[in-house]
Amino acid sequence: MKPDIWRFETLKECSLAAADFITDQATAAVRDTGMFSLALAGGSTPRLLYECLGSPAYASRLPWGGIHLFWGDERCVKKTDPDSNYAMAYDSLIKKVDIAAANIHRIPAEIEPPSRAAQAYAETVRQVFHQKAGLPLARTPAFDLVLLGMGPDGHTASLFPGNPALHEKKELVTAVVAPTASPPLPRISLTYALINEAKCVFFLVAGRRKNQIVQEIIDDRTGAAQKYPAALVWPQGRLIWAVAEND
Ligand code: 6PG
Repeated sequence: MKPDIWRFETLKECSLAAADFITDQATAAVRDTGMFSLALAGGSTPRLLYECLGSPAYASRLPWGGIHLFWGDERCVKKTDPDSNYAMAYDSLIKKVDIAAANIHRIPAEIEPPSRAAQAYAETVRQVFHQKAGLPLARTPAFDLVLLGMGPDGHTASLFPGNPALHEKKELVTAVVAPTASPPLPRISLTYALINEAKCVFFLVAGRRKNQIVQEIIDDRTGAAQKYPAALVWPQGRLIWAVAEND
């Protein structure tokens, strides 16, 4: 399925459109299936979107009882560390809304070694879909929506150019050694095996340099996939690139 490209002048406009889309998707999914599984992106770009979702205008419309939050990746730090993707989502969204702790599925990235944290998270994801959606444990879960960012090198989640994690075909979640990442911390990341099973992947990207990468991916996905891990995201369902010219 060809990707949808949504272009905006500003990150604010882009974030509001994303908040509307997520609200609509969550409302329909909870109405139809009782559950909306949303994997959150890390980094800084989605903060404004999370603040929108946590604002009264959106928070009051979202069916929090059926929403289950996951993460696309996490840095191997404590959940209170400023570098933690969970901490950013907690501060900008989670602490403001009426979502049960049982619906928040944080990556336990503080577990050592990181490979054990990855294994534990894959098990959590499988268990939630088994218990809440009746999915057999052996089946790969399909998130309703995976929100992703993209770095200036075309990485997404914690899937970095040239990293062995790009070739993981079996495991749903993997530990990543990312010395060139910023911050250069070990990480836990969903793999393409899980990301590409999603019913919808929604990239939220801002800034001129990233815009150029997005255009390269749209123009020639195969060629771009040689350089940019984000080009290897090709979900079973819908792929949306929401791009803000200015960050
Ligand atoms: C992470 C993120 C990562 C992020 C991109 C973009 O843990 O760093 O998940 O994939 O989405 O690096 O980050 P910015 O939004 O801060 O540019």
